[in-house]
Amino acid sequence: MFKKAVFLFLIFLVMACEKREKPQVSIIPRPEKYWVSSNTINFDRKTRIIYEDPNPALRLMADDLALQIGKHAAFTPEVVALSQAKSIGNDITLTINLADSAYGNEGYKMEHNGMKFLSIQANNAKGIFYGIQSFLQLLPSVGVEKPDEIVLPSIYIEDKPRFSYRGMHLDVGRHFFPVSFVKQYIDLMAMYKFNTLHWHLTEDQGWRIEIKKYPKLTEVGAWRDKTIVGHQVNENKVFDNLRYGGFYTQEEIREVVDYAALKQITIIPEIEMPGHSLAALAAYPEMGCSGGPYQVAGEWGVFDDVYCTKEQTFTFLEDILTEVIGLFPGTYIHIGGDEVPKTRWKNCPSCQKRMKSEKLKTEQELQSYFVRRIEKFLASHNRRIIGWDEILEGGLAPEATVMSWRGITGGIDAAQMGHDVIMTPGDVCYFDHYQGDSDHEPLAIGGLTKVSEVYAYEPVPEELSPNRFKYILGAQANVWTEYLTKPEDVTYMVLPRMAALSEVVWSPKEKREWSAFYKKLPYHFALYKEMGLHYSQSVNNLYFRIKLDENKVNQLNIETEIPDAVIRYTTNDSMPSVNSKKWIKALPAEEVNTIHAAAFIDGKQIGEVFSKTISK
Ligand code: ACM
Ligand code: ZN
Repeated sequence: MFKKAVFLFLIFLVMACEKREKPQVSIIPRPEKYWVSSNTINFDRKTRIIYEDPNPALRLMADDLALQIGKHAAFTPEVVALSQAKSIGNDITLTINLADSAYGNEGYKMEHNGMKFLSIQANNAKGIFYGIQSFLQLLPSVGVEKPDEIVLPSIYIEDKPRFSYRGMHLDVGRHFFPVSFVKQYIDLMAMYKFNTLHWHLTEDQGWRIEIKKYPKLTEVGAWRDKTIVGHQVNENKVFDNLRYGGFYTQEEIREVVDYAALKQITIIPEIEMPGHSLAALAAYPEMGCSGGPYQVAGEWGVFDDVYCTKEQTFTFLEDILTEVIGLFPGTYIHIGGDEVPKTRWKNCPSCQKRMKSEKLKTEQELQSYFVRRIEKFLASHNRRIIGWDEILEGGLAPEATVMSWRGITGGIDAAQMGHDVIMTPGDVCYFDHYQGDSDHEPLAIGGLTKVSEVYAYEPVPEELSPNRFKYILGAQANVWTEYLTKPEDVTYMVLPRMAALSEVVWSPKEKREWSAFYKKLPYHFALYKEMGLHYSQSVNNLYFRIKLDENKVNQLNIETEIPDAVIRYTTNDSMPSVNSKKWIKALPAEEVNTIHAAAFIDGKQIGEVFSKTISK
C-alpha cells in the first residue's frame, strides 16, 4: 500500500513538473484506471521479453508479443525465461506473481518500473494476455520505415473487466464463413478483450457442423439450391438459383476451438432447437411432425416446420449433442429456443400424445418440456444450457441461462427469478442493423444502431432489484448474416461497433465517456487499415431522421455523433459553409424540400456534405 502511494505520488510529481502535453492514449476498452505522463519508455535492439517460467502459456504470449513488436520496429525482441535473465534492462517482463485478488482472474497491472522496464503483472496468464492487448494498442502505426527504437508514453495501468461475460456472436448459418475468417474474427475479439464467441452453427438455411453419426446433416443440410436476392418487397420473390453452402469438419472445429483458447476466448456452440431447424429436417425428415419432405431454406424468416417432440427426435438431438460436447470444452451449450411456431405441434398426433402423457396444457409448455429434457441431458454431462428469451414461456428450465434479445424484459424476468442472464437487446446489440442513413449504407436487414447508441448501452437494467444485479453476467452483440455474404461485410458491420461494446462490458460505467471514446477512433481506424479490414466510418456521417411529433406532424431532425460538432445547412441548393444557418431544432418536414448539411468543429468542416430530399 505504502509503496503504491509513493509511486503514485512520484507519478503526480513527474506530471506536475511536466509542461509538455500528455500524449493521447487510445486503448479500447478504456482501462479501469490509468495514468500517463509525457515521459517515455524506449525500446530498442537490447529490449527482451522476459516471461516467468516455467509456464508454456506465458511463453507463447511472449513469443507472440515479440513477433508483434517486430511488425512495428526494425528489431524483434529476444524472448528469455525469467530464471535465465541475469539482469533487467529496458525489457518487458510478464509475471504472474501479482498475488492480489482485487485483479481477479482477468485483471492486470502495467507499470513502467523505475522509469526503466515495463512490467505486466497478473494473477494468471489470462490477465497477462489482456495486459499485452493494452500494450499493443500503445504501439505506433506500422510505417514503411521500421524504426530502430520504439518510444511509448510512460504509463501506469490497473485494469480488470466489469463483466465476466463479454460476447460476440457470429451466424454462419445464413452465410458460411471460412475458418480463416472465423480466426480473424477471434483476433478482433481478443484485441477488444471479448472472452466469448457465440458460434451460431445451425439454421433453416444451413447446417454447418459435421456430425459423424448423421452424415446427411452436412451432405444435405449444409447446402441450399437458391438464395433470395435483396429484400423481399412483395409476393414476387427473386432467387439467384445458385447452389450455396459449406460446413466445418470436426477437425476444423477443433482447430478453431484451440485457436480461440490461445486468445482466451471460449466458444459457445449454438445448436438451434426446436425451431430454425429446416436444414436438419431436410436431411432427416423423420424428425419433423409431418415427415416431410423438407428443403433447406433459400429465404429468411421463421418457418412452421420444427422438430417433432417424439422420442426419436430426442435420441437424434442427444446423439448430436454428445458429439458437440466432445468438440467444445466450455461449460455452455446454446440450444436456441427462439421463434418456434406451434402450428405443427398442434396438429401432430405424436406431439399431442406427448402433451397428454406429460400433462402439458399448452404448446408453450411442450416447448418448456423440450428444453428441460435437453437441459437434463446436458447437465448429466456437466454442461449448462443457454437459450434465447422465449425459453421463459411455458416455464423456465431450472438452471438455464437466458439470452435477452427481444428487449430487456426477458432478462429482467429471468434475473428476478435468480437465473443468469446475458443481455443482447435488439435495439443496441444487433450489429446486422444499419449504423447510419440507409441511403449511404450497404444493404442491411433494417433497424438503426449507431455506434454512439451501442456505447451508451447500460447492461444492468434500472428496473432490476440491486440484489439481482449479479445475475447479469454481461452483454453480447449478435451478428446475423442474412445480408452479410462476405467476410468484409461482417467486418464493416462490427467495426467499430464492437469497440464501443467492449467499453460497455469491460470499462467502469462511470468512466465511460462518448467524446473520449470518439477521440480514440482514428487510432483504431488506422489499425483496421493496417490489417486490411473493411470498416465503417459512418460515425462521422450526418443522420436525417423524420419522426411524427405529438401533434402528428412529421418533424425532420439532423443528428450527428461527432462530439461538439455544429451542423450547418442550406435549403436553397447551395453547399453549406461555416456561414450557413446553424441547425438548432427539428423542422416540420413539410417545410423542407431539399436540404444540404455538414458538421463543423471550430469553423472547420468535418466529413462530407449530406443531402436529403423530402418526398411530398
Ligand atoms: C433471434 O434474433 N431470433 C434470437
Ligand atoms: Zn410432432
